[in-house]
Order: sequence, then C-alpha cells, then structure tokens
Amino acid sequence: MIRAVITGSGSALPAQCVTNDALAQRVDTTDEWIQERTGIRQRYIAGEGETTSSLATEAARKALEDAGIDASEIGLIILATATPDHTFPATATQVQANLGCRGGVAFDVHAVCSGFLYALGTADSLLRTGMAKKALVIGAETFSRILDWEDRTTCVLFGDGAGAVVLEAKDVEEDGPGILATRLHADGEHRELLYVDGGPSTTGEVGKLRMKGREVFRHAVVNLADVLKEVLEDASIDAADVDWVVPHQANARILDATARKLNLAPEKVIVTVDQHANTSAASVPLALDVAKKDGRIKPGDLVMFEAMGGGFTWGASLARM
Ligand code: ACO
Repeated sequence: MIRAVITGSGSALPAQCVTNDALAQRVDTTDEWIQERTGIRQRYIAGEGETTSSLATEAARKALEDAGIDASEIGLIILATATPDHTFPATATQVQANLGCRGGVAFDVHAVCSGFLYALGTADSLLRTGMAKKALVIGAETFSRILDWEDRTTCVLFGDGAGAVVLEAKDVEEDGPGILATRLHADGEHRELLYVDGGPSTTGEVGKLRMKGREVFRHAVVNLADVLKEVLEDASIDAADVDWVVPHQANARILDATARKLNLAPEKVIVTVDQHANTSAASVPLALDVAKKDGRIKPGDLVMFEAMGGGFTWGASLARM
C-alpha cells in the first residue's frame, strides 16, 4: 500500500534566547508566575534579518539532509504559518526559491497552532493520490512580531522557530511506516477567543494577537482528548500502544491535562514548551526533531501528533516512524 512516510526532520531557532527573567525586565511579570502557569522557562525571539522564511529554509535544509535527498527531488512544499513574510506570495514559494527547487507545488496553510497538522494531512492526501512523490512539510513562525508587548497575559507565552519534515510516498507493508490516520476539525464559533486584531482586508495593518486564555485552555483540553480518541479508533490502535505523543507545545498544563484524560503516561509526552514556549505551527515539528535527534523517537515507533489553535482549529495524526 502507498503511504506517506516521514523520512527526515530538521528545525531552526533564532539566535537570541530570552529567559523569563530577561522578559520580566520589560514586562510586569515574574519567572515564577510564567513557570507555574505555563511551564515556560525561555523562548527564542527573531532578530533583524531573521524571518519566517529564513527559519523555514534552515529547518527544511536540515530535514533534506536528514532524509538524504536533494532539494531538486521535492515536488511539493506546504508551509504552515500565521506569520508569513508577506501577505503574498506564499512564504512557501520563498522557501522554494531559497532551496533552488523549481516547478513543483508550493503553498501556505493557515490554521495557526494547528497549521502543521493541517499541512501534514494535506501533504499525506496529495502524496497518496500521486500528485507528488516527495514533499517538505514545514511549520514556521515569527509570532514575536504580532505580540502586544504591553499585554503580559499573552506576550510571555510565545516564541519563534521552525520545524520541517520530509514526507515520501512509499509502497509499504500493512505494519510498515507511514501516516496511519489523521483527523482535522474547525469550529469558527470560537474565533473571537484567539485572534489577531488586524489584516489586509479589515484594518490594513498586521495587528496584534488577542486571547481569552482561560476559555482557550478549557476548549483545548476537551477538543484534543476527543480528536485523539478519534484517530486511535480510525487506526484501530490502543492508547497504551502509542510510543510517543508529540503535542503542540502551548502550555505544560494543557499537555498534562490531555495526557491524563487519555491515561497516557506523562513520560511518553515530548515536552519542549519549557525551552521554546509556544511557537504555534512550528511547535510540533520542532518537538519531533528534538526527540528524534536525542534518540527518544526511533524507527518503528508509533507517534501521535496533535494540536489545537485559533479558529478554533484542531487535529491529530498517528504515524509509524
Ligand atoms: N505575569 C504575572 N501575572 C499575570 C500574567 C503574567 N504574565 N498574566 C496574567 N497575570 C495575572 C492576571 O492579571 C490575573 O491577575 P488578577 O487575578 O489579579 O486579575 C492572574 O494572573 C490570573 O490570570 P488568568 O488569566 O486567570 O490566569 P490563568 O491561570 O488562566 O493562566 C494562561 C493564564 C497561562 C494564559 C492560561 O489561561 C492558559 O494557558 N491558557 C491557554 C492559552 C494558550 O495556551 N494559548 C495558546 C494558543 S492556543 C493553543 O495553543 C492551545
């Protein structure tokens, strides 16, 4: 059977690391408050010359190297971001140009923190229909540029970064590697709980992130537990057989609450929110890359990806590595 198989991963972070203590010098907050409520210790913030496309390109190059393939073999680039370099063209086309691969398909997906899940699901479908053989799926963000640095309830939560995977269509056995099941959802009813108060067609300004944190938290735990159950059922897999969960890194308390709801052992959950904070669409591929490179996630492992973000949008995907 033809499946989309993850054959490589890569990630990139801005040069500048900002600790909670450093942040507390410009915002009315404390390291203690941030750690207790979110688990975040530090985040990376893009400096001059660092953009969503530059971070995405670096992560993509590392993923290509990890997969052992040349950029010219890539026929599809899907880049998930809510912080594109420009309103248009798609940041994916900038990455395509940077990598020097021409003529394939390249576009952005915008589902905020669920963006990587949406991009992965889309790439999986396109590879299985034969539209392309090898794809780059990237999550990349520079959320620092849409934060209101006067609003301590939001600006402490986010960071910048990028993660990428190479996805290849392969003919595999039933118990072989590849994406086994994916579920994606959206519910526009709740879009005012987490949004940016600007845009090209409304204010003409980029705008700043606004969030009702407590309500987002409540919805996140319920939606994530539901979608994880759906994917396990679709793939006929028991939660106990999942080797690793690579969740969107919003908040350590959301990760704990979701794991508890599904009876998943906390040591199976990959946590990078302490190091990177919430990097929106970049957080899942960044966390995957960290856990692959440090040897935790190995070939053959059953890995669950999940995310929830503005819209609301949410989704999960189960893959054998
Ligand atoms: N430093 C110090 N104090 C703060 C800060 C801060 N950075 N931010 C808020 N406070 C204060 C508030 O002013 C409030 O003070 P008051 O009681 O005197 O009014 C107090 O802390 C409690 O504020 P709450 O907002 O009620 O705090 P809560 O426990 O809900 O934690 C948080 C806030 C961390 C945002 C939490 O609601 C949360 O994690 N929500 C999920 C949001 C999220 O992760 N969004 C990311 C995008 S969506 C996603 O990825 C799932």
